[in-house]
Amino acid sequence: MRFKKFGKTDMNVSVVGYGAWELGGNWGPIEKENGVKILNLAYDNGVNFFDTAPAYGRGQSEEIVGEFLKGKKREDLYIATKCGLEWDQRGRIRNNLKKERVLKEIDDSLRRLKCDYVDLYQIHWPDPNTPLEETAEALQQILDSKKARYIGVSNFSAQQVETLIKYVDIVSTQNYYNLLVRNVEKELFPVVDKYDLTVIPYSPLAKGLLTGKISKDYEPPKNDPRAMDEIFKNKELFIKSVEKVEELKILANRIGRPLSQMAINWLLHHKQVSTVIAGSKDEKHVLENIEAGNWELSDDIYLKIEKIVGE
Ligand SMILES: NC(=O)c1ccc[n+]([C@@H]2O[C@H](COP(=O)([O-])OP(=O)(O)OC[C@H]3O[C@@H](n4cnc5c(N)ncnc54)[C@H](OP(=O)(O)O)[C@@H]3O)[C@@H](O)[C@H]2O)c1
Repeated sequence: MRFKKFGKTDMNVSVVGYGAWELGGNWGPIEKENGVKILNLAYDNGVNFFDTAPAYGRGQSEEIVGEFLKGKKREDLYIATKCGLEWDQRGRIRNNLKKERVLKEIDDSLRRLKCDYVDLYQIHWPDPNTPLEETAEALQQILDSKKARYIGVSNFSAQQVETLIKYVDIVSTQNYYNLLVRNVEKELFPVVDKYDLTVIPYSPLAKGLLTGKISKDYEPPKNDPRAMDEIFKNKELFIKSVEKVEELKILANRIGRPLSQMAINWLLHHKQVSTVIAGSKDEKHVLENIEAGNWELSDDIYLKIEKIVGE
């Protein structure tokens, strides 16, 4: 496993991390013990960066990460979680970044994670009803009380990063970014470079599309996270994407690597990216993704990929 410095922090993260949305039950049911087993498998094979959120299964994902942390040396691992989404009794989710809500959320997360601090505390989504200055006060308090070591954002625009960073220091931004969805490069890389941030690409495998296992006739089941994703919803875009994936698969075959690994290493070829958090609840897939941390993409293959995917 290769390791990279996480932006301007002192964290040395595994280039392949683990995304724990898959442990929340939203991607089909998962037993707690299986979730812990998957996390241990990733950890035993070199992964030290784990991304979760309260919203992933309304606390379930964080609880499974908490079980996994039991008996581990806490400083050997980096745990990232998020705030800003709350749910009602019927499970409907809404934004809330009010100061008192954020201060409550960190305590709820630490209780579920069974630890004293998280390494990275990220705003999950912006809340149009709360000024960023108010949220920043809560985040600064969380930093001062050492409940979080660093602050990050997710799904923020460049302008929102510029605003928040005036009030509280941030180190990372997590956004939808992969071979098929590249807006981040134009929209966020300038601000990422300006403030020496690092990008955590989410859905790095385009929710499974970039593994080559999804064909043109695929229809996501009604409650599957893919059913809400533009790349699956927009038929024309979906067909075009699958065609690109077919070409990428030929290239991956030529270099003798699975497409999933090529997609992960394409992200890591960008200096702004330090860790890629693919999610999976399948042991074989977890191991396949981790293997991407043991090789690097050559400039020549990078350029061939660019020709296929375009901007
Ligand atoms: N900040 C945000 O708003 C946000 C939004 C989305 C995601 N995220 C984070 O990003 C992480 C990853 O994103 P994601 O879960 O949306 O999508 P993803 O990692 O792009 O894809 C996950 C899907 O791909 C499949 N998969 C993974 N590796 C595979 C392999 N080697 N071969 C075949 N199939 C494979 C998984 O199925 P199996 O279980 O069958 O392997 C799963 O269905 C999440 O866990 C979460 O931590 C954050």
